[in-house]
Amino acid sequence: MNPMDYTIEKFISEKEIKDKIAKLADQINADFDGKEIVAICTLKGSFVFFSDLIRSLALPVRCEFLGLSSYGNQTTTSGEVKVTLDLNSQIEGKHVLIVEDIVDSGITLQFILKYLEARNPASISTAALLSKPDALKVDVDVEYVGFEIQNQFVVGYGLDYAESLRGLPYIGILHLEE
Ligand code: PRP
Repeated sequence: MNPMDYTIEKFISEKEIKDKIAKLADQINADFDGKEIVAICTLKGSFVFFSDLIRSLALPVRCEFLGLSSYGNQTTTSGEVKVTLDLNSQIEGKHVLIVEDIVDSGITLQFILKYLEARNPASISTAALLSKPDALKVDVDVEYVGFEIQNQFVVGYGLDYAESLRGLPYIGILHLEE
């Protein structure tokens, strides 16, 4: 990818993200008071949000990683979700918190919910930093949503464009040059 092929419009600042995570963490701490949770980082996009969120939680947290891919190098979902890395411990009887960077069509989250529900956790809920209500194609519940956004292609803070730009500390809107 040539850096001249796109521009990035600053969209959600580091400060706004930090403040939002503190609010989400307060809700999660209250809802799971006295319980241990298994937080599941859905790779790759969630790793930055995940690391900030778990450090804001005041609960006992076990961390698990689930590798998934559906977009490849495209800007729209292929609709086919692939598991690229599975959990390495049991979640039966545990309180599971799926941590997603973004719920777009909802197809990935729907897949994850089905995939993990089959392992009989005590409960399963989802935190997503970003959600695009207008892009949803399936019915999925997200208990903890950071920001609801329009149907724009966002990058940074873990989100990529063709595997680049995950390291931006803020969230930007990607504009591709014609
Ligand atoms: C992104 C993102 C979500 C998913 C959301 O993953 O991390 O998991 O897409 O899209 P959906 O709601 O339309 O299914 P992607 O497949 O791009 O892989 P990545 O996390 O490795 O970037």
